[in-house]
Amino acid sequence: MSADLQARIRIDGDVPRHVAIIMDGNGRWAKERGKPREHGHRAGMQAVREAVEGAGEVGIEVLTLFAFSKENWHRPPGEVKALMSLLETYVRRERKELKEKGVEVRVIGDTARLGRMTRAAVRDIVEHTRGGTGLRLNLAISYGARDEIVSAARALADRVQRGTLLPAEIDEETFAAELFTAKDPDPDLLIRTSGEHRISNFMLWQLAYTELHTTPVLWPDFTRKDLFEAILEYQRRERRFGRVAAS
Ligand code: IPE
Ligand code: IPE
Ligand code: MG
Repeated sequence: MSADLQARIRIDGDVPRHVAIIMDGNGRWAKERGKPREHGHRAGMQAVREAVEGAGEVGIEVLTLFAFSKENWHRPPGEVKALMSLLETYVRRERKELKEKGVEVRVIGDTARLGRMTRAAVRDIVEHTRGGTGLRLNLAISYGARDEIVSAARALADRVQRGTLLPAEIDEETFAAELFTAKDPDPDLLIRTSGEHRISNFMLWQLAYTELHTTPVLWPDFTRKDLFEAILEYQRRERRFGRVAAS
């Protein structure tokens, strides 16, 4: 079934270069089963594997996964701890396989806020997979888009103060170059699971002309088939970027 969809994606062409995913619905998935929220987070790891493998199979260049937001620090300490521990487990367990597949892992977000062990595990996978020429996997951890934008503004102000940049030289390009995603094309497609229709402080700058796709599927149930369906739907859309349709 997913092989069929994959073949259709290739025929239709125009695979999105960059796909971003807001992985949502772990808590509700667990609740439906009468289990604690952590149970849903653990189950969500399999869906991460599906998304990464599926992205590699259809030739997506960049996959950005929203794993933990700055606002998520305000969740109960037990849940934050469980999420951090799962993140550590994921990066330790997948390191070898991702490297073998040529996946280059990068982390976007305020990693200074992570605990020592988690930070070390994250740094380790980034270093271990550096230079991979296959899929580029951005893990958004302790990430907030407004915070990212403010940091970029601060970095530019700093350059102006040091006299290496004129205010008049600040344009969209110089600004984007200060964001975590400086090296990436903007996302072509954003997927949000669990039926929510909001951005939740994710990639506010980068999503300016991104196609949005929401699905009721809860994150732990997400498979490569859902990814492929989102891409096929994307391929049927007409992106105009404010212009008129090509005739
Ligand atoms: C997504 O699932 C995981 C994170 C935000 C870390 P949730 O934990 O938000 O699950 P719901 O939205 O409460 O169902
Ligand atoms: C967004 O999901 C953050 C991640 C998926 C990591 P949330 O569940 O935190 O967002 P809200 O609270 O529904 O907006
Ligand atoms: Mg949620």
